[in-house]
Amino acid sequence: MDNITVFFDELSVHYQALCRYTPEVVQLAVKRLTEKSINKRVHILDLGGGDGYPAEQFLIANSEANLTLLDNSVGMLKMAQERLYRFRERANFVQGDMNQLGFHNKVFDVVFSCCSLHFVLGLSKFLQDIRSTVCENGSIAILFNDRADLSMQLFHQFFPAFHQIEIRRHHALQEVYSASIEAGLNVVDEVRFPYYLQFPTRDSFINFISSKPFSGFGFMGDNEFSREFENFTMIANSSLPETDIQVSAQLTLIVMEV
Ligand SMILES: C[S@@+](CC[C@H](N)C(=O)[O-])C[C@H]1O[C@@H](n2cnc3c(N)ncnc32)[C@H](O)[C@@H]1O
Repeated sequence: MDNITVFFDELSVHYQALCRYTPEVVQLAVKRLTEKSINKRVHILDLGGGDGYPAEQFLIANSEANLTLLDNSVGMLKMAQERLYRFRERANFVQGDMNQLGFHNKVFDVVFSCCSLHFVLGLSKFLQDIRSTVCENGSIAILFNDRADLSMQLFHQFFPAFHQIEIRRHHALQEVYSASIEAGLNVVDEVRFPYYLQFPTRDSFINFISSKPFSGFGFMGDNEFSREFENFTMIANSSLPETDIQVSAQLTLIVMEV
């Protein structure tokens, strides 16, 4: 098992509490997609669907939609199955690798992915694979952290070692555009969703990072993390007020069509 899968298997039971910081953004993105790009009776594929929060929003917003959630972490899939139990007749779960998609017939009307693009190893191949799973008038919607936006987050400013890892993994918007052209896809919508992560106190902000909530931390050894975390704590203590910490962040939604 690769270290990302191990990371998410371990994180899965805490994921909702730790990383449920973008619900408004996911809701806004699903609303926009449901209004603009998604018709009534659709089959949606959610890649790297995690514990199923975005999937749940699609199934609530569209009572006729069916959804297949693919993830390679058994722990995350288990959480998703629990979350989506009430939609079990419209939800399927697949343990699989986004980098080796096995669907080769055009079965999906919408392929969606939220906060998972940085696990994709070859962007053009990924979009080409998706293109062969989406039907001719279907849509591909990707909600992701544009590389250029990472440095607006305090975690990145205060934790340079983490920032360096994440900069290498995240894609720039321009790369997504270029890969979409290579895959024969047209970008039909681009929206930025700014949001804030709120922490009542500086200590809760520091504690959040001590729980290694982002997969980039999974690439650091324990010794390296301890050393860099100490540095992070020093910077946070000297730069932040004791209460009401707001961390600016932004996700970008790109919608493509064949
Ligand atoms: C940051 S989480 C996002 C989860 C969900 N989309 C959300 O927005 O709440 C990333 C998810 O991608 C999954 N993942 C990472 N690499 C993957 C891969 N190669 N194939 C399938 N899933 C992968 C992880 O297991 C994790 O559940």
